[in-house]
Amino acid sequence: MIDRIKSLLKEVEELKAANADELEALRIRYLSKKGEVSQLMNDFRNVASEQKREVGQYLNQLKEQAQQKINDLRDHFADNEAGTVDFDLTRTAYPLPSGTRHPLSIVRQEICDIFGRLGFSIAEGPEIEDDWHVFSSLNFAADHPARDMQDTFFILHHPDIVLRTHTSSVQTRVMEKQQPPIRIICPGRVYRNEAISYRAHCFFHQVEALYVDRDVSFADLKQALLFFAKELFGTDTKIRLRPSYFPFTEPSAEMDISCNLCGGKGCPFCKHTGWVEILGCGMVHPNVLDNCGIDSQIYSGYALGMGIERITNLKYQVTDLRLFSENDVRFLRQFKSAH
Ligand code: DAH
Repeated sequence: MIDRIKSLLKEVEELKAANADELEALRIRYLSKKGEVSQLMNDFRNVASEQKREVGQYLNQLKEQAQQKINDLRDHFADNEAGTVDFDLTRTAYPLPSGTRHPLSIVRQEICDIFGRLGFSIAEGPEIEDDWHVFSSLNFAADHPARDMQDTFFILHHPDIVLRTHTSSVQTRVMEKQQPPIRIICPGRVYRNEAISYRAHCFFHQVEALYVDRDVSFADLKQALLFFAKELFGTDTKIRLRPSYFPFTEPSAEMDISCNLCGGKGCPFCKHTGWVEILGCGMVHPNVLDNCGIDSQIYSGYALGMGIERITNLKYQVTDLRLFSENDVRFLRQFKSAH
């Protein structure tokens, strides 16, 4: 009997079934009431008692292996059948929604491209900065009231470490390492401790531009600004410069463009003035050049800085700043056609 069981064990090992019917036939042959295993169980009664133990072990092994093999074959079918149902390779693919670029990224790119055409290259700096790069090197005196103009986030227990409040800090980073000619454009995120509302946020984005060389004049600045405004807002755009104050430039100015919504006629957006402010600028203060190791007797430069959100609002009439950081796809997907 043991020989018979051993040969069945081998047989079971090699069982194959091409389909569910064949599998069922195998189950009947081995495991049904009249199957091989049941018959052997019946014969087991007649086994001499001193052999019962050994034969019994073989018989159990056969029963388990036959069951296991048939289960395995069944699982295999289940997988395959699921495969044929789930994967219809001829079916048309679902359309995959493609993402859109964030409006701030679109506008940042546009600004950088325009300055790129004037020969400016991109420079970046850290968002966590030290006092020197954000304030002191830029001619903010230790007790200068201008420091209060910027509601700064300080790092707890480290009064020297701040989240940068403007990208002007990148000017210092570059000038410390490089002698003129310098022509850089610095896009980046900045932080200010403001209550969040539709018109203010605790972080936003700026682009800074810096040009330092021999004989750089205010006329060069004005020319670059006019080119920039026309490229960004259209050739009909006019600019006007108003005197202003920044510690790091002298003289300083703020630039308005003719309101791109009403064409300068006056509307609620420009508060009926026909002009909207878009950036600050000026001639780099000699102290700033000297602080960074650039000889202000030889070199001069201009700088300018603008908020990307503000420009984006002007271009796309976004009226709530919070939309830029909420990741609401209903807002974001409207920029699909923008390049
Ligand atoms: N840093 C200024 C701000 O955050 C913007 C600015 C004004 C940058 C004048 C400049 C500049 O480079 O010349 O408000």
